[in-house]
Amino acid sequence: MADPIRDVFSRPLKDIRISVTDQCNFRCSYCMPAEIFGPDFAFLPKEAYLSFDEIHQLVGSMAELGVEKVRLTGGEPLLRKDLHLLIEKLYEIDGIKDIALTTNAMMLPKYAEKLKAAGLQRVNVSMDAIDEDVFKKMNGRSVSTKPVLKGIDAAVNAGLEVKINMVVQKGVNDDQIIPMASYFKERNITLRFIEFMDVGSTNGWKLSSVVTKKEIVSLLNEKFEVYPLEEAYYGEVASRYRYAGTSSEVGVISSVSDSFCSTCTRARISADGRFYTCLFATEGFDLKTFMRNASSLEEVTKEISILWNKRKDRYSDERTEETAKNRKKIEMSYIGG
Ligand code: GTP
Ligand code: 5AD
Ligand code: SF4
Ligand code: SF4
Repeated sequence: MADPIRDVFSRPLKDIRISVTDQCNFRCSYCMPAEIFGPDFAFLPKEAYLSFDEIHQLVGSMAELGVEKVRLTGGEPLLRKDLHLLIEKLYEIDGIKDIALTTNAMMLPKYAEKLKAAGLQRVNVSMDAIDEDVFKKMNGRSVSTKPVLKGIDAAVNAGLEVKINMVVQKGVNDDQIIPMASYFKERNITLRFIEFMDVGSTNGWKLSSVVTKKEIVSLLNEKFEVYPLEEAYYGEVASRYRYAGTSSEVGVISSVSDSFCSTCTRARISADGRFYTCLFATEGFDLKTFMRNASSLEEVTKEISILWNKRKDRYSDERTEETAKNRKKIEMSYIGG
C-alpha cells in the first residue's frame, strides 16, 4: 500500500465517514429540530443516493490512498435498506481495518446480528439522557429509553464493540452527566460526552450552552475518580479517562473548548455523493457526477488525492461566536457528523 496522501498541513487521509441517508426517525433538537425538519422538509430523493456499488468503489479508491477506517452515518443509517449488504462489500476491501456505524440504536434489535455477521466491528450509539422525560424531550419524537437500551443490549450480545455518545447542552441535559456516567460505568460500556457544536444553521447554537470538557471532567471527579489515558492512535477524537479501580472508560469530545483539527484525518461523503474535507465545510465536491463521467476508477482516485492535497480546513481551531452565526454550514443530518 502506498503512503497515505497528505493535505496542506501534512495530515494524512485515514478515515472516511459516509452518510447513507439524510433521514432519521428521531428529531434531536441539536441536530434535526422538528420545527424545521417537518413533513414539508425536502429530504434527498432516493434516486440521488450513491448506490452500494458506487460506495464500494469510492472506498476502494480511498483505501489505495491510505484510508483504513470507514464509519457509516446518517441521519439514521439503519433506515437505508439492506445496509448489511454494503458492509459485506466494504469488508472485502484490502486495507480497510475498521468498519463502524453511528446510530440511535432503535433498529439494532432487528439488525445487530446481521450487521456483525456482515463484518461490522463497532457501533456508537447516540443517547443523551437516562431519565425518561429528558430523553423523550430531546429526541423530539417522545421515544422512551427502553427501545434504545434494548438496541444497546442487542449490539453487545451480537459481539459488537459499543460506545455511547451523549451531546451535552447546558440547561437541557447537563443534569444527566452523572446518572449516565453511573449507568454505563456499571455496565463497562464507554460513554463519551460531546460538547454541543455549531454544526449546520438550524440548531440555535450559542457558546453559552456548551458544557466544556474541563467542567465535565471536574464533575466526574467530584463523584468518581477518573484519570486520563494516553491517545490510542494518532488523531483520536475523544480524550479518554479511566474510572479509578475499574476497567471502565469514559471520554470527552471537545471540539469547541479544545479542538483537534491539527490531527484531523477525516473526509466525509454525503448520501448524494458529495465529498467534504471538514464537518464545517461550506461546499462539497460532486464526486458522484465526477465518478459517473470518469473513464476509469484511477481518474477518481487521482481527483480525491488532488482534493485532499489542497485541504486547509481547521474550522474548530478558528471558531468564534461570529463564524458560528454568520457562516453558512451544512446540516449534521446531511453530512453525517
Ligand atoms: P470513534 O472511531 O469510535 O472514536 O468514533 P468518532 O468519535 O470519530 O465518531 P462518532 O460518529 O461517534 O462521533 C462522535 C462525535 O464526534 C460527534 O459529535 C461527531 O460529530 C464528532 N466528530 C467526529 N469527527 C469529528 C471531526 O472531525 N471534527 C469535529 N469537530 N467533530 C467530529
Ligand atoms: N454537536 C455535537 N454532536 C452532535 N451530534 C449531532 N449533532 C451534534 C451537535 N450539534 C452527534 C450525534 C451523533 C454524532 C454523529 O454526532 O449525537 O452521536
Ligand atoms: Fe437522528 Fe442522530 Fe440527528 Fe438524533 S443526532 S436526529 S438520532 S441523526
Ligand atoms: Fe476536522 Fe474540520 Fe472537525 Fe477540525 S473542524 S477536526 S478540520 S472536521
